[in-house]
Amino acid sequence: MPDADKSSQVDSKNYAVDIPMKTSGFFLKGSSHLNWGMKNRLARIFNPESGRTVMLAFDHGYIMGPTTGLERIDLVVPPLIPHVNCLMCTRGALRSCISPEVDKPIVMRCSTGATVLKDLSNEVIGVTLEEALALNAAAVTAQACIGAEFEKESLINLSYLINEGARVGMPVLGVTAVGKEMVRDARYLGLACRVIAELGVHFVKTYYCESGFEEVVAGCPVPVVIAGGKKLPESEALVMAYKAVDQGALGVDMGRNIFGADDPVAMAQAVGAVVHKNEKPKNAFELYNDLKKK
Ligand code: R5P
Repeated sequence: MPDADKSSQVDSKNYAVDIPMKTSGFFLKGSSHLNWGMKNRLARIFNPESGRTVMLAFDHGYIMGPTTGLERIDLVVPPLIPHVNCLMCTRGALRSCISPEVDKPIVMRCSTGATVLKDLSNEVIGVTLEEALALNAAAVTAQACIGAEFEKESLINLSYLINEGARVGMPVLGVTAVGKEMVRDARYLGLACRVIAELGVHFVKTYYCESGFEEVVAGCPVPVVIAGGKKLPESEALVMAYKAVDQGALGVDMGRNIFGADDPVAMAQAVGAVVHKNEKPKNAFELYNDLKKK
């Protein structure tokens, strides 16, 4: 118990009455009116200085099994952790392969129910908000399969996360999954991003498209990050990341183009230079090659 404040009886306190208290805004698009817990979690995922993030996605196994480059999560992911802002993964990968001493925020994949052997849109929620909180997640995620057979179910999954997340201050990342029958153009991606932003997700992961990406971002009232997609040559992946942030994305949630690179640690740093320092792709590729030699 503190000692009684004896000075309270005399005029020795300093209220700095000439310094007005600052009313700060919040750096993230569309997030000003969220509560403190949501903002604090988002400020761990997005770097408040650059306003952007490099998320490392390694949740592929939940639908694909041992994905190329990710056969041994315990060997591949830990060296990348110092070079990214955030980890996106399943609870199984987190508990078994990632040290609890890690200081990076976790975006927890909560949907399940489908694999590449069947219809990927046919998912349910497999991880509760209580479990995500117990694992100290900074956000939860599921995908929306707009235009797919189980579109409604995928939106119900996201709604569950949004509603339950609102009770405990947990932001939701909505992923726009694109089925084989869909075209990854600005019209489709713009529709999908907008639908889930209006449903209430706090940030969106979608694909980059060569034409009209700026409009996809402009039409989405919350932050957009891009998935990397299939493995590209490193120089091309850096160009894609550059174009995406140049056109308004607030970062990447990249998997195969980082952990599948010839040198994943060098690639994570090169992507970071593009995302946080606006490094031109040519310079970032030089950085990649320099780091790779070491
Ligand atoms: C898909 O299984 C996951 O949602 C991945 O996290 C997502 O596709 C991003 O990874 P990549 O950059 O490899 O496309």
